[in-house]
Amino acid sequence: MTVLKIVKMGAPELTVKASSIQNFDSDDLHQTIADMTETMRHFHGVGLAAPQIGLSQQIIVLEVHQNERYPQAENIELDVLINPQIIDFSDQKEFAWEGCLSLPNLRGRIERPTHITYQACNAAGKTSKKTVSGFHARIIQHEIDHLNGILYLQRLHSLKDFGFEDSLPAF
Ligand code: NI
Repeated sequence: MTVLKIVKMGAPELTVKASSIQNFDSDDLHQTIADMTETMRHFHGVGLAAPQIGLSQQIIVLEVHQNERYPQAENIELDVLINPQIIDFSDQKEFAWEGCLSLPNLRGRIERPTHITYQACNAAGKTSKKTVSGFHARIIQHEIDHLNGILYLQRLHSLKDFGFEDSLPAF
């Protein structure tokens, strides 16, 4: 496994829609997932989308395990989402602070639906459907935004909700 360089805001790779995966269970795909997992853990991320390593493909990894960047967050087992699609959003929404490894040291308070139902494939190409809520739902929405070339700051309601971690009074 290799720790890869994270692509930062400003890079064109973060602004385009990623391609769907057609060939499952390949050595390349397993290697990419292993490297993305290693990279996410190395930088203390709770999720990572392939465009963030400069790969325009619909692959997401996520995991929360006593994360120092999100100390309040519940633990989430390592999960891999390929070609994910959100098929239902709750009407109920909530605001919460988000960070992103492509925008280091910054946070934004973003409003998102509290519950989502999504479907995604695993590395073998098997499709499953899940309903998740809270921070788990937020991570998946944030990472799927990456696959569509969207960064969280595009969803800000106010610039008062955006800034450096060490400067925001409310964070
Ligand atoms: Ni991000």
